[in-house]
Amino acid sequence: MIIHHVGFLTKNLKKSESEFLGLGFEIEKEAKFDHIRKVNISFLINNGYRVELIEPVGKDSPLYPLLKHYKNTPYHFCYESENFDKDIKKLSENGYAVINEPKVAPCINDGSKQVCFLISTNTGIIELLEK
Ligand code: NI
Repeated sequence: MIIHHVGFLTKNLKKSESEFLGLGFEIEKEAKFDHIRKVNISFLINNGYRVELIEPVGKDSPLYPLLKHYKNTPYHFCYESENFDKDIKKLSENGYAVINEPKVAPCINDGSKQVCFLISTNTGIIELLEK
């Protein structure tokens, strides 16, 4: 599967953004609020490498505990899935646990596609993006 982005958890989106810009990234998509996950999300791009900055907003964001635990860090790879339901089933049969059931991702592309987060001991957290 092709990688769409690497998700980077941050306490301060603006600060991370300006430091990534200093490393050669450009803003691909300005910060937007994802009301489902209570996070601000922006996309940066550097020569085909796309980074998603994710800033939990408030302590009731489902991502807040992760930020508390890991601090500022890359924490997931997102893969584009041509056969979304099939791929989730296949990964589940191969040791991946579904973290949360598929839901739309308002901040990715036109906001109509679903994503699903899964975890495995050997590859960590992955996100599948419906193509
Ligand atoms: Ni992501």
